[in-house]
Amino acid sequence: MFNKATIAAFGQRETPFFYYDLTLLQATLDRALAAAENYGFHVHYALKANFNERILQCIQKAGLGADCVSGNEVLKAVQTGFDVKKIVFAGVGKSDKEILIGLEHDIFCFNVESVQELEVIGKLAKEHGKVAKIALRINPNVDAQTHQYITTGLDENKFGIKTWELADCLEIIKKYDSLEFIGLHFHVGSQIVDLNVFKSLCVKVNEFNNWFDERGYRLKVLNVGGGLGVNYVDPDKEPIVDFAGYFEIFNQFLERKGNQEVHFELGRALVSQCGSLVSRVLYVKRGLKKHFLVLDAGMTELMRPALYQAYHKIEHLSTNAVKDAEGIKVTYDVVGPICESTDCFGKEVELPEVNRGDLIAIRTAGAYGEVMASRYNLRNEIRYVYDDEITP
Ligand code: LLP
Repeated sequence: MFNKATIAAFGQRETPFFYYDLTLLQATLDRALAAAENYGFHVHYALKANFNERILQCIQKAGLGADCVSGNEVLKAVQTGFDVKKIVFAGVGKSDKEILIGLEHDIFCFNVESVQELEVIGKLAKEHGKVAKIALRINPNVDAQTHQYITTGLDENKFGIKTWELADCLEIIKKYDSLEFIGLHFHVGSQIVDLNVFKSLCVKVNEFNNWFDERGYRLKVLNVGGGLGVNYVDPDKEPIVDFAGYFEIFNQFLERKGNQEVHFELGRALVSQCGSLVSRVLYVKRGLKKHFLVLDAGMTELMRPALYQAYHKIEHLSTNAVKDAEGIKVTYDVVGPICESTDCFGKEVELPEVNRGDLIAIRTAGAYGEVMASRYNLRNEIRYVYDDEITP
């Protein structure tokens, strides 16, 4: 929730902008790390969720590793100061150039997504006199019970290696001295709120861990990916993410052999809460059946509602609205200015009466917000405001 001083400080700033509360981010990181450290778990941050400079600096300082999905993300992680020994590199389509970036920086691990990719990494590493540490990303056929567009661990998804291809992978691993097989990698989807999904994942990981162990491969790393969901409906609920409950599931259900390490790749759970998209109302269009609030932010700044029909809480920030919060509400469809009918942040949203010029916040926008922005309609570049710029 925004306090009055923050809202006043937004004042006449040019909108739309992403507001990042770095103090809240730090508190979230502290909570996540404390919960993980209880069990000696390793946490990497999935850069794809948000690679804003200041956010990355906070996360790097907190000591997390980096989970990257492109050569540019690997370079960004290195430039930000993430320890190369904590950089992992996933992605179904790594180009030769991107693989070489990983090799050149001696990253901790390539999460390999196909038999074909394994062969290419082996070959490139050999040619460059390197040894590539690799984990096989196995598609475990676990249903993440989340939106179909962000489910990744089913047989029909493009991600990871199918179980019947594992023997072929072992052949390639034997063939190349330039490959060091260190672990297994899984990631079944995103915005997972039913923790039972992670129990099912543990069961699968145990099966594969046994399978490799029986064949003489005692792997150092079990990487279970990310996917932990957040509470979009009530972004002020504490905690918005149950880190303790999440890590406890893995502690209870994952069978570690010897001193196997357990690694995580969290994105959304770490950064979503600290971000909001702040926008000004351009027009209040009154209709017979419904009223529209036309904002100066659109799907170009936050694409999730248009792309996945995702829910983000919408709040009226103007000082009067805070005062009138318990008063009369009006129902609006909250839309953006982009020439697409899907450019809609919420239908039938109840808000205290809104006027032209009022500020609106779209909450929980720190993850998969600005990183997915586009310049469609030749929109302005993204602007930012950080809490430490406005707190007295
Ligand atoms: N590891 C891998 C291999 C991934 O593919 C992802 C996310 C993560 C970790 C981090 O997942 P998280 O903890 O953030 O759920 N744009 C979509 C989400 C796409 C997620 C892609 N992969 C959205 O806005 O909901």
